[in-house]
Amino acid sequence: MTREELKSAAMAMLDLAYCPYSHFPVGAALECEDGTVYTGCNVENGAYSGCICAERTAIVKAVSEGKRRFRRIAVAAKTKDYCTPCGECRQVMNEFSPDMEVICMNEAGEDRTLTLKELLPFGFEL
Ligand code: THU
Repeated sequence: MTREELKSAAMAMLDLAYCPYSHFPVGAALECEDGTVYTGCNVENGAYSGCICAERTAIVKAVSEGKRRFRRIAVAAKTKDYCTPCGECRQVMNEFSPDMEVICMNEAGEDRTLTLKELLPFGFEL
């Protein structure tokens, strides 16, 4: 999948986001090292601690299918600024692929690409 296709896959997930509380849809598309792609959206819950971000939805889908090595993830939101992943998602990415890239998008579909190391310097590893 090309970079632009990955970004489009993330944007398409905005329509599937379940976000009745925040009204802040997020979409993600995760490319594994073997080239397969897993998508995700945020899924909220009335018990707020049950909310899961789009990035982690995609990562959990991938890991539960046996994929643990990721090349990059595209993150889409309807924001003027580039949407960067929350700290918890950065840590979850770090668990599997500390050298992956994160494509942070804005509502216009423009992006700023950062390495996970830039987003999470000195990330925890057990
Ligand atoms: N959210 C994501 O899905 N990914 C991010 O990178 C930032 C935040 C979700 C969580 C919650 O459903 C909503 O956006 C508002 O925080």
